[in-house]
This record gives sequence, C-alpha cells and structure tokens, in this order.
Amino acid sequence: MTFFFFRETGGRLRREHGAMQRRVAIVGASGYTGAELVRLLVAHPGVAVTAVTSEQSAGQPIETLFPSLAGHAPQVLQRLDPAAVAAAAELVFLALPHQTAMAAAVPIIEAGCRIVDLSADFRFRDPRVYESWYRTKHVAPALCGEAVYGLPEVHRDALKTARLAAVPGCYPTGALLGLLPLLREGLVDPEQIVINAASGVSGAGRKVEVGYVFGEVNENFKAYAVAGHRHTPEMEQELSRVAGREVRVTFIPHLAPMTRGILSTCTVRLTRPAGTADLLTLYRDAYKGEPFIRVLPEGRLPETKAVWGSNYCDIAAQVDARTGRAILLTAIDNLMKGASGQAIQCMNLMLGFEETAGLRSAALWP
Ligand SMILES: NC(=O)c1ccc[n+]([C@@H]2O[C@H](COP(=O)([O-])OP(=O)(O)OC[C@H]3O[C@@H](n4cnc5c(N)ncnc54)[C@H](OP(=O)(O)O)[C@@H]3O)[C@@H](O)[C@H]2O)c1
Repeated sequence: MTFFFFRETGGRLRREHGAMQRRVAIVGASGYTGAELVRLLVAHPGVAVTAVTSEQSAGQPIETLFPSLAGHAPQVLQRLDPAAVAAAAELVFLALPHQTAMAAAVPIIEAGCRIVDLSADFRFRDPRVYESWYRTKHVAPALCGEAVYGLPEVHRDALKTARLAAVPGCYPTGALLGLLPLLREGLVDPEQIVINAASGVSGAGRKVEVGYVFGEVNENFKAYAVAGHRHTPEMEQELSRVAGREVRVTFIPHLAPMTRGILSTCTVRLTRPAGTADLLTLYRDAYKGEPFIRVLPEGRLPETKAVWGSNYCDIAAQVDARTGRAILLTAIDNLMKGASGQAIQCMNLMLGFEETAGLRSAALWP
C-alpha cells in the first residue's frame, strides 16, 4: 500500500510517495523459525515487527538471544498475551509447538487478526486425521475447514484472501514440490511412492533433547520414525487431492549432521514410458514463472548448500529406464522454504505485496 507524505527539503515541503508499514507480530520469536522470521521481516520493505513473544526469555531484547540479529532487531520479547498481540498487529505469525498454536490462534483470530501458522495444527482439512496422528483433541476444528494450506505454488489464489494460512511442514514441502507435477499428469503410480528425506538438526527446533546434541548428531546419519512420521498424512492429503483418489506413501526421514537443509529423494513407478528430458520439460512447464522453484538442467542434482538461507526449492529428475522408475530430488532450507520463508511468501500474498518481497536473496555459499 502506498501513501503520500511531505518532506522538507531546502526550506520547502515536497509531496512524496511512501510505503505504509503493515504491522505484524511473531509469537514464538525465540525459537528457530521465529528468529528466522525476525531476521527476514526486519528487512522486509512493507512491514514493521510490532511484537515478539517468548515465555522463557520475556523482558529480553531478541538480539541478546540471537547475536546475529544485533543492530537489526531492537524488539523486546514479551509473554504471550493474545489480546496484546492482536492489538499490536494486523497479521500474526504463530511459530509455536503444535497444540500451543491452536490455543493461541482462537483468541487472536477472534480479535480480527489474520494468522500465518507454522505449526501442524491447521494443516489438515479433517481434524480427525490430525487427532489420530498427533494424539490430541483439536480445540478449533471449525477453523480446519477454513485454513488454506500454505503452499503458494498450489494454493496461491486461496491464500490471497485467507484469514488463516497453515504453512506446510518442512518434509512435505520438499516432497510435494517434487511429486505434484508428475502426479497431476498421471505419470506416477500413486500406490508406489517412496520418499526418503534427510533433514538438518534445526528441523527439530531449539529445544534440548539428547538425540539432538552435538555429540549425538555429529559424524552420525540415521533414520528415525520410519513409516510413522507425522508428516506422512500431510503429504497424503495433498497428493490425494491432486490425484483425485486416496494416495498412500512410504516415508523414511533421516537426521543428517548439518544445521539446515532437507534433501528429499522420491522414488516413483512411471505409468508410461518417459525419459529424463521429458520429465524435466514437464517440471519447467509446471513451474514456469515460479519465483522460488529452480528446475536444474539435466545432469545436475540438488544439494542443500545450494539453497542454504534462501527460499529456493531446487528440483531434478532422473529416469531409471532399467526399472521403469523415476527418481525425483528436491533440496530446500527447512527454515526458509520449509518454514519461515514460505510463511513470508504466504504473508506477501495475504497482504498484497509482491510475492518475493523480503525473500530475494541467493543462497549463502560456502
Ligand atoms: N524447525 C523447523 O525446521 C520447522 C519447519 C516447519 C515447521 N516448523 C514448526 O514451527 C513451529 C516452531 O518450530 P521451531 O523449530 O521454531 O520451534 P522452537 O525452536 O522449539 O521454538 C518454539 C517457540 O515456541 C515458544 N513456546 C513454546 N511453548 C510455549 C508456550 N506454552 N506458550 C508460548 N510460547 C511457547 C518458545 O518460546 P520460549 O521457549 O522462549 O518460551 C519458542 O519461541 C513448530 O510447530 C514446528 O513444528 C518447524
């Protein structure tokens, strides 16, 4: 939104264009995704961060928790008071653990704010699916039907008017962006999808658990939650929607000894013969004009370092002609396209900004 203001130069008042700063709040700003939101939003041309929350660090400036923010983020953390947050902002990011997020969402949305939620609480259209996988009662089932799944490449138009955006999980983002174009074309056997994905440690958040301390993670590589990870039904929901029938996937997540990044390797059976070049052409067509999707040239493969700190999803495909399978690979930064970058992409659509505003940086290398 632009407005006029008057600036005095050389003793004369001149009328100039200016940009109205839209007020946003970050609930859970002391966590990894919350701090990443702060980093990106204090540099966003169209918003002002008017409130940041933490329970354990209330009263401290956020830059004391994250020295990387020194000189950029003077905001002081406050305890979560939904009424105060709603009074401070028109759009609120919830970067909270699931369960906590839905409890906070209700009074904030009732106070008239729009919400971009990074948790799993509103990702499922059917709250019963959420309840069975997350083993908890949903406190706001009515909002599940209204929430828009925050994958802009698929739900762009609906996001523009959404009151509540449910940002996808990090693993689903990587897998869905690789699988959806081929599934939409009927090229993939929906009963034969296997997804292997490896994530950096920040995917588990900032909480301290023994499995995530340096001594356990360093020089180690392991699978976990095999065929039982909570991101599985989320992938299945979106794949089924596009396939027009129920899709089940085998999902095997891994923990990789790195801080950020997710590399997803999806193995699918092709329903008709196709070459690698055919698949890459299909991806290029499907993602034409998409600002954050890079379909790599034949022979190049995605790697997490190529997207580190950026909002890109790099995609490659390789047909294994001997077996009739295709291998689809994607790389994202879990804190960017897998969480906070994607959340800001949603916000940009909801508030009418250019979709890339505040997100245009290339990856950091090395
Ligand atoms: N990490 C990722 O890569 C990623 C990717 C996609 C989605 N997500 C989702 O995004 C959400 C945040 O993840 P994260 O990795 O940023 O987690 P995190 O690092 O553990 O941060 C959690 C935040 O929530 C706050 N919090 C915890 N319990 C609270 C409560 N009862 N009341 C109010 N605030 C509370 C914490 O504040 P204090 O501890 O300072 O009080 C902290 O600011 C989660 O739902 C996660 O599943 C994460």
